[in-house]
Amino acid sequence: LTASMTLDPAFRVAPVHRRTFGSFVEHMGRCVYTGIYEPGHPAADADGFRTDVAALVRELGVTTVRYPGGNFVSGYRWEDGVGPKAERPVRRDLAWHSTETNQFGLDEFITWTRTLGIEPMMAVNLGTRGLQEALDLLEYANHPGGTALSDRRAANGHPQPHAVRMWCLGNEMDGPWQIGHKTAREYGRLAAEVARAMRMSDPGLELVACGSSGSSMPTFGAWEAEVLEETYDLVDYISLHAYYEEHDGDLASFLASATDMDHFIESVVATADAVRARLGATKRVNLSFDEWNVWYLSRHQAAEPRTDWPVAPRVIEDRYHLADAVVVGGLLISLLRHSDRVTAASLAQLVNVIAPIMTEPGGPAWRQTTFHPFALTAATAAGTVLRVEPESPVRETARYGAVPVVDAVATHDPEHGRAAVFVVNRAVDEPVTLHVDLRGLAAERVVSCRTLHDDDVYAANTAEHPDRVTPAENKDTALDGGRLSVVLPPVSWTVLTLE
Ligand code: AHR
Repeated sequence: LTASMTLDPAFRVAPVHRRTFGSFVEHMGRCVYTGIYEPGHPAADADGFRTDVAALVRELGVTTVRYPGGNFVSGYRWEDGVGPKAERPVRRDLAWHSTETNQFGLDEFITWTRTLGIEPMMAVNLGTRGLQEALDLLEYANHPGGTALSDRRAANGHPQPHAVRMWCLGNEMDGPWQIGHKTAREYGRLAAEVARAMRMSDPGLELVACGSSGSSMPTFGAWEAEVLEETYDLVDYISLHAYYEEHDGDLASFLASATDMDHFIESVVATADAVRARLGATKRVNLSFDEWNVWYLSRHQAAEPRTDWPVAPRVIEDRYHLADAVVVGGLLISLLRHSDRVTAASLAQLVNVIAPIMTEPGGPAWRQTTFHPFALTAATAAGTVLRVEPESPVRETARYGAVPVVDAVATHDPEHGRAAVFVVNRAVDEPVTLHVDLRGLAAERVVSCRTLHDDDVYAANTAEHPDRVTPAENKDTALDGGRLSVVLPPVSWTVLTLE
């Protein structure tokens, strides 16, 4: 098979937003406990943070981290997680049917993000709680001092304000599974009240209203419209969440998951802009894709519901294979392609829970297959996103109809004289030779071309074989007189850098 595309620095979409490379830490399963935090682990620092995990988080290139949930936040009392650890209450977490020890909370999270140079992104509880508690949390986190709650933060060892800029107004409030689930109108009214008061406290905040938990929600579209009618002037973002999995061995449809992400993003942009027109507003609401990943959700839903209340149990510790990683790479292409409106995103989650990084308690930490496309995209995408519009053979898929085999996006960084191409070959068993016309780019050489591929699409990394699937240098490239070609193996993701 052959495909072609043009890479022209004039075909600009938007800047590469560093917040596209965010992730998510929820108090769920072993994401926090025995994930990022494990006092007593041989690699733990004085604060109990695992330095082996921190090194992998750095390598992953994560820029923002959303916290503390997820479904967990809708039953959470933030005060439980601050102050002397011995006095923190133990509570039940209804969302994940487990026991929360509260040994890790807001102050520990902020310390952890600061050590890693990560921007924290907080969520407030709009399930069991509301306006007053959100304002209290904001005062504790961000007020400089001289008030009851900011002084309490200082007394807890944090005299400097945490300066959290981005705040999510609840989580997945459209989902019937959510504690305190609401109709769009009920949620929109509450989110508007909370946003208005939070802005009175600090007009510089960036606020995210909950959009739909997925494009297949029965309220999708209507939810966004109603929520934005209530909140339009008060929020900066509307959120999107999406998880993909292979259903019934249908690999071709699974590999085309970015088709759904494209449709989801474009539908939310259209809905937000329709509300803008109706309200006669001038500003635009952007999109925060603050939960996205591959998640074998149907397996989780088919499992017997939990009857016990364990501390940090193994929950949704999906083991990712090569095809999952190619899908993650493809979803990143979709996010980048929509950088004009998707200006923040969070890979859900960061450690152990549907995560690129896995750990064993007291044991090693390693990279899942999905770690690689994320880390390489975060490290390579720079400057401006370019539209590339590949001409590609198409393949019929059961879920999405005819889908182009090749999907791609590019970035251009004139300051450093570099360009990068991110491309997937979604053909199940055929390689593709991709020809790229480097119009106006004056590229002289291929700096590197790395491809993630394996003859076994279901090969995965494990504690015993942590490097079973890793990207390899792709030598099948040629650059001649402004024409580049590269051979893409079937079911593969590739990043190519030029200068
Ligand atoms: O990331 C796992 C869960 O998925 C989150 O808690 C929730 O927001 C979503 O449904």
